[in-house]
Amino acid sequence: MSRSIAPGSAATTAALVAAAALCVVSLATRTSASEQAGFPTAADIESYRTKVERVFMTDRGGTTPNYAACVMCHTWQTKVRFSLETPATDAGWTTEQSRKNFDVVTKLVNTAAPATSRLLLKPLDPSAGGMGHTGGSFWKSRTDPEYLAILSWIQSLPADRYVATADAPVDFEFFRACVQPVFANPRDGHIKCSNCHAGGLIGFAPVPQNGSAWSDAEAKRAFSTISRLILPGNPEQSRFLLKPLHPDGGGSYTHNGPRRWQSRSDPEWQMLSQWVRGERKGTTCG
Ligand code: HEC
Ligand code: HEC
Repeated sequence: MSRSIAPGSAATTAALVAAAALCVVSLATRTSASEQAGFPTAADIESYRTKVERVFMTDRGGTTPNYAACVMCHTWQTKVRFSLETPATDAGWTTEQSRKNFDVVTKLVNTAAPATSRLLLKPLDPSAGGMGHTGGSFWKSRTDPEYLAILSWIQSLPADRYVATADAPVDFEFFRACVQPVFANPRDGHIKCSNCHAGGLIGFAPVPQNGSAWSDAEAKRAFSTISRLILPGNPEQSRFLLKPLHPDGGGSYTHNGPRRWQSRSDPEWQMLSQWVRGERKGTTCG
C-alpha cells in the first residue's frame, strides 16, 4: 500500500506539476486568444501601423507647417487630443507604443461616416472641404494617396465602433459650474464678457439679477443662447471658442471684444473644448 502510494504520489505530483505548467500555458494562450477575438487584434495593429503610422512618420522635408512630419508636432508635447507616443527609435514606434497610439487615433475617426473623420479633415486643404489646420494642408484633394490610405483604414474598422461624439450632450451642470465663471472672471485686465454679452442674441452672459449668482432661469436662458454658438462635438468650429481666441492661435479674425486665449493649448480652452465635445460633465472644473 505504502509502496504504491509513494510512487503514486510522486506520479501525482509530477502530474500536478505538468498540469500546472499546462495551465500556465493554456492561460497564456487563452489571454492572447481572447485579445485576438476582441478588437484590435495583433493583425489590426499591424495594418494600422503600415497604413496610418507610416503617414505620420513620413518626412516631408521641413520642420514648419506643410513641411513637417506629423510626428514632429503630434507627440506628447502638443496639448491637443491627437498626441502620439514619442517614437522609441528613428524607425518609429514599437508595437506596444502603436497600441497606445491606436487608442488616441481612433478618437479622431468616425466609423459611421468615415469621410467626416477629423483625422482626414484636418490635413485636407480647406479648398477641398478640409477643416483648416495649424499644422498645414497636406492633401490638396480627396484623391491624395495618403488620404485614400487612411480613409480605407477607417472603412476597415468595425462600423459601429468609433462613432464621433457629435451627439454627446453638452452638459448644463458643467456650464453652470465651470463655463459661467469664465464670463465673470476677466483675465489680463480685460473687461468681463458680461459687459457686452448680457442681453440680446449674443447675451450668453447675463448679469445676475441678485447681483452674485445666476438663478436657474437665467442660467437656462444663457445656456440656450450659448448653444447657438457651439457646434457639439466640434470645438474648432464653435464660435464661442473661436471669437475670444487669438487669430495666431487659430481664432476668428475679428471680435469686438478681447482675446482671452492666446492659443488652443490654453488649459481653459482645452477644458471648454472637452465640454463642447461632450466629454465633460458635472461640477468638477480644471
Ligand atoms: C507644424 C506642426 C504640425 C504638423 C506638422 C501637423 N500638425 Fe496636426 N495639428 C497641429 C496643431 C497645433 C493642432 C491643433 C490646432 C488645430 O486644430 O489646427 C493640430 C491638430 C490636428 C488634428 C485635430 C486634433 C483634435 O484634437 O481634434 C488632427 C487630426 C491633426 N492635427 C492631424 C495631423 C496629421 C495627420 C498630420 C500629418 C499629415 C499633422 N496633423 C501635422 C500641428 C501640426
Ligand atoms: C467690449 C465688448 C465685448 C467683450 C468684453 C466681449 N465681447 Fe464677444 N462680441 C462683442 C461684439 C460686439 C460681438 C459681435 C461682433 C463680433 O462678432 O465681433 C461679439 C461676438 C462674440 C461672439 C459671436 C456671437 C455670434 O452671434 O456670432 C462670441 C462667441 C463672443 N463674442 C464671445 C465672447 C466671450 C466668451 C467673451 C469674454 C471672454 C467676450 N465675447 C467678450 C463684444 C464683446
